[in-house]
Amino acid sequence: MNVIEIKPGIFWTGAVDWAVRDFHGYVTPSGTTYNNYLIMDDEPTLVDTVKHDFVEVGVSNIRSLIDPSKIKNIVINHIENDHLGSLDRIMELSPSATIYTTKRGRQGIDRFFDTASWNIKEVKTGDTLKTGKYTLRFVETPMIHWPDSMMTYVEGAKLLISQDAFGQHLASTTRFDDEFVAANSMTELEDSVVDYYANILMPFGKLIKSKICEIKDMGLDIDMIAPDHGVIWRSDPSKVLNMYLDMAEGKAKLQIAIIYDTMWHSTEHMTLPIMRGIIDAGVQCKVIKLRATPMSVAIKEFWKSRACLVGSPTLNNEVFPSVAEFMVHLKGLRPSDRLMGAFGSYGWGGGAVKWLYETFKSMKLPVVEPGIQVQYRLRNEDHEKCYEYGRTFAKAVKEFHEKNYGAPSSACIK
Ligand SMILES: Cc1cc2nc3c(=O)[nH]c(=O)nc-3n(C[C@H](O)[C@H](O)[C@H](O)COP(=O)(O)O)c2cc1C
Ligand SMILES: [Fe+2]
Ligand SMILES: [Fe+2]
Repeated sequence: MNVIEIKPGIFWTGAVDWAVRDFHGYVTPSGTTYNNYLIMDDEPTLVDTVKHDFVEVGVSNIRSLIDPSKIKNIVINHIENDHLGSLDRIMELSPSATIYTTKRGRQGIDRFFDTASWNIKEVKTGDTLKTGKYTLRFVETPMIHWPDSMMTYVEGAKLLISQDAFGQHLASTTRFDDEFVAANSMTELEDSVVDYYANILMPFGKLIKSKICEIKDMGLDIDMIAPDHGVIWRSDPSKVLNMYLDMAEGKAKLQIAIIYDTMWHSTEHMTLPIMRGIIDAGVQCKVIKLRATPMSVAIKEFWKSRACLVGSPTLNNEVFPSVAEFMVHLKGLRPSDRLMGAFGSYGWGGGAVKWLYETFKSMKLPVVEPGIQVQYRLRNEDHEKCYEYGRTFAKAVKEFHEKNYGAPSSACIK
């Protein structure tokens, strides 16, 4: 992939990773990109680096524009390995460059590398760096999504380089949102944004909302958002801002995700009448079997839906391990605004459904009680009970959705 000029004198010098399918445990069916940006101003300035496996791609991109020893400044917006990994190589080539990062960023860089001979400057929100015709303005974004994270706004270019926020895991020959949509579809792009948000940024909704509002209050005029993964938002950056504000406010479809696993198919057989009951009550439904679905896809589908029914058989008095694994992922992502219920098949003492309700409550998620349990296999009356359960749950979901999410969003920009 060649370098691309995204604004006058500002170049994408990143790498496309077509082959990655497991990204720290999450599936990336379309691969990803590691974006970084070289500002060719009086003081040439690199913003972020690429994942270490792609270091020579990144270096050759830089070399196509400039001798790396001429780089004056290196901005590190985020110290996770996929953006920091090449910094040691870059510093070999540009030993006199000054690194700009947050206080936590600096502490992290010191842990990753031997920085004894490096110039590192800590920056805070509002600090600026003049590179020539452009001025960089730093905006700290702690916990979006690591404590070190910040964004860099390029004054004069109306460009926000946003690190992981607003990114998507998409390998593509296209670099911009409009190009991607023309070559693929808006649905695919939106799905990737939701996937990224659900799996990486879900815990930080409140912070994201206040940060977007703060950026708005700072009066930054943004006409392009360049994240560290996926496409650059140039045709309509407000699209992704509004998607984030909506998600931060808990927006979801009037839909129930049934997420389950099973040993001998009884829990699985419960999903069918439950699903029919849900549909007959006028609510959409999506059914996901855990061991047949990557965890990060299950999380995305959970996030898209207003409510979730989790199904598990009892195994040795406990919840089924794949369901426990899903719940551990979900708990860490601290979801809110989703109504929960549970069901499952058991043989004698049971335990899985009880475990699930206890877990939902420990997560402070609203629940519909009780759940539904079937001993061993479903009889005709169990089919009817499951159907009724589906209908009742769906009616509760409808009410919950309309009561709490019926009003128009109060987001700071629309
Ligand atoms: C290895 C194993 C351990 C089990 N442990 C329990 C248990 O501790 N308590 C219980 O109520 N049922 C237990 N069961 C019975 C299952 O919960 C029961 O067969 C249920 O119908 C399985 O649902 P499924 O068809 O959705 O897998 C166990 C089953 C197996 C295979
Ligand atoms: Fe990250
Ligand atoms: Fe990243």
